[in-house]
Amino acid sequence: MSAETARITKEQLIAELNNDLAKEYQALIQYVQHAAVITGPQYDAIAAELVVHSNEEHQHAISLSDQIDFLGGVPAVDVAEVHVSEVSKVMLEQDLDGELDAIRRYKTRIGQAESLQEYGLRRALEDILIIEEEHARDLQNALDL
Ligand SMILES: [Fe+2]
Ligand SMILES: [Fe+2]
Repeated sequence: MSAETARITKEQLIAELNNDLAKEYQALIQYVQHAAVITGPQYDAIAAELVVHSNEEHQHAISLSDQIDFLGGVPAVDVAEVHVSEVSKVMLEQDLDGELDAIRRYKTRIGQAESLQEYGLRRALEDILIIEEEHARDLQNALDL
């Protein structure tokens, strides 16, 4: 465990979780928009999958809001900047960037929860991380990466 991880306070962790929450709302909205406008027969399967992703981001927002409340914080209602494009491939790249960022953030957050002995939070974050990794794989497959 790094010194930086060990130094985090509960208040700092709540602030980080609210930042994560804003990005879950961003992802939810972004997937709804991308699923609706993405075009091209090669993207039919992933278009349906983006709707599934959107619903899962909604579940993540609910889980994070509950966890922030359990920690004594107030869940925020901010939405991080949503990325849109007129180019289907670019949309998927924007979505993948978001997922890779989420994976990095949640790995850090799991370490921070562990350092504060918030094991219930850690478990909730691990469940979210598993889904974000699936999302990233879906997008990488659709992009032939
Ligand atoms: Fe998510
Ligand atoms: Fe995701």
